[in-house]
Amino acid sequence: MKCDRQTLPIAAIREENPSLRTFTFSGELKAQPGQFIMLTIFSQGEKPFSILDVDENSFSMTIKNIGPFTDRLFNMGVGDLVSVRGPYGRSYTRQPGKILMVGGGYATPPLRFLAKKLREDGVKRLVNINGARSAEDLLYVEDFEILCHQSHIATDDGSLGQKGTSVDVMESILGNESFDQIYISGPEKMMKAAVIVAKKHQLPYEVNLERYMKCGVGICGSCVMDPTGLILCMEGPILDGETLDGLDDFGVSHRGKTGRIEAL
Ligand SMILES: Cc1cc2nc3c(=O)[nH]c(=O)nc-3n(C[C@H](O)[C@H](O)[C@H](O)COP(=O)(O)OP(=O)(O)OC[C@H]3O[C@@H](n4cnc5c(N)ncnc54)[C@H](O)[C@@H]3O)c2cc1C
Ligand code: FES
Repeated sequence: MKCDRQTLPIAAIREENPSLRTFTFSGELKAQPGQFIMLTIFSQGEKPFSILDVDENSFSMTIKNIGPFTDRLFNMGVGDLVSVRGPYGRSYTRQPGKILMVGGGYATPPLRFLAKKLREDGVKRLVNINGARSAEDLLYVEDFEILCHQSHIATDDGSLGQKGTSVDVMESILGNESFDQIYISGPEKMMKAAVIVAKKHQLPYEVNLERYMKCGVGICGSCVMDPTGLILCMEGPILDGETLDGLDDFGVSHRGKTGRIEAL
């Protein structure tokens, strides 16, 4: 087991919207799209976060202020120290050919990182769907426009792009064009709907799952999925269709803080 822990300063903070900020840390991280790090804030413990981007001497994450841990982070400033270990987990596979990315809500950071890497790989065609409740909840709109050959927007309230979900847009795109691979990241119910569409079109796909994670390295069992006992922090968070088919709790339930199974 590796534990590449580093104590690092916050190098920059960018406000995406009132509850969402992108934190950049000075330091080296050799990570691939879909992997996550464990972030420690002294006196607040440790939480997992997806990697948004990695540069030579810095990396970043977009974080929602949702509870005590993230609230403490939102009260920190540039120069304050945090501790990071990782990266952990399985990344997206980065296939060549024609790629469709389907994103929903605040789960799009790994897709933003993936888009950058796929363009560096020289991917043949990259189409992105960025979905959110409304225009102010959309992330990285300009980045996806620059990085992708085509970028679509869907909002539940129709305030920007097509009115509806990213899965609605996915359905209409796949009615006209086929792809070699689909990469999905979003709320679990949205991913479940996207998987049904991918299966209908018999296209390979990968999803990005979140479960309660305490250790991130396969020790505590908090992220275990039923009935196979898959350890998501090590065997995921990115899962392919075949693996996902063996999991009863995808889109249905998860283990909470105490390990008890709860409905999603
Ligand atoms: C692989 C992975 C990647 C993630 N990436 C991001 C990200 O890029 N940006 C982001 O904002 N959040 C991300 N999260 C969620 C994040 O780790 C926590 O939800 C968040 O830090 C909550 O912390 P809190 O103390 O502020 O809130 P709390 O009040 O403790 O929790 C708020 C909610 O978050 C859930 N949660 C709390 N701790 C964890 C944990 N250790 N693991 C999973 N869920 C937890 C709780 O069940 C609750 O629903 C990710 C989670 C996982 C598993
Ligand atoms: S988070 Fe501990 S085993 Fe996965």
